[in-house]
Amino acid sequence: EAYDVVVVGSCMTDLVSQAPRLPRVGETIHGHKFFIGFGGKGANQCVQAARMGAKTAMVCKVGKDVFGDNYIQNFKNNGISTDYVEQTGDAATGAATIIVNDTGENAIVIVAGANMLLGDAELLKMQGALSHAKVLICQLEISPDTSLKALRAAREHHVKTIFNPAPAVPDLSPEFYKLSDIFCCNESEAEILLGETVATVEDAGKVSLKLLGRGCGSVIVTLGSQGCVVLSAQDSCPKHIPTTKVTSVDTTGAGDSFIGALAFYLAYYPSLSLEELARRANVVAGLSVQKEGTQTSYPYQRDLPEELL
Ligand code: RIB
Ligand code: NA
Repeated sequence: EAYDVVVVGSCMTDLVSQAPRLPRVGETIHGHKFFIGFGGKGANQCVQAARMGAKTAMVCKVGKDVFGDNYIQNFKNNGISTDYVEQTGDAATGAATIIVNDTGENAIVIVAGANMLLGDAELLKMQGALSHAKVLICQLEISPDTSLKALRAAREHHVKTIFNPAPAVPDLSPEFYKLSDIFCCNESEAEILLGETVATVEDAGKVSLKLLGRGCGSVIVTLGSQGCVVLSAQDSCPKHIPTTKVTSVDTTGAGDSFIGALAFYLAYYPSLSLEELARRANVVAGLSVQKEGTQTSYPYQRDLPEELL
């Protein structure tokens, strides 16, 4: 079977508490709501691409536990192939503890668990599927070595790569940049990667040029409500793509919604410019921030404004 968008990445069970604000060190505060959801950056991106209408496969590892069982069912419910989803008895399904404040901002701790055991055996198994794919997406919630190997394999098969360096590390292996057709991060990830402050659109333009200089085909730095900045090796003048103003309820996973939508458009509308890809992905992510939760807030193709269909 052929899959157009393949994600090699993470699954997490999101344990979400909504509170008026994020607690300080040593402090206990009352929250007003708790829920459990399906998350993990890799799976989130895959679910968003699938809801846009992409034929997707997820390559990941969950635990042999109830969270892992439920997650596999969640992939099926979203029409995502689980041929490359493995279950291990050696670690628990990844978990994310998330606190969301009243303005929709969050703080997250992930315990990757089974995600870290995704490795060579699973990559070998998915080679056939990858060789026919249009787009591969990777992040950093699995072993970085596994992400690198997946990106290298995609290059060999001329599959377009989207790399999302999240969560970011200051000493990212230089090979990641060279293996990224699109290197897509948010402002705080760019700060960690480069060790400089990214507060304005102008800052984002500067850091995106530096990231491009490390060997990426193109770079997108997302800026939340300020939209994003894009540039490419062919056109290295940073362009700001603004968003329309929305009232945000929960921004958790909005970046993943952006990347999943980006992968969909890249796979099925390959002639769109980088600016137009980013503009469309902005609209999709903008819908997600207006609803509670991560995947629960991701739009389906039928929810999109007419101009995006
Ligand atoms: O990007 C949002 C995601 O980050 C959450 O779903 C959580 O699982 C963490 O991985
Ligand atoms: Na949301």
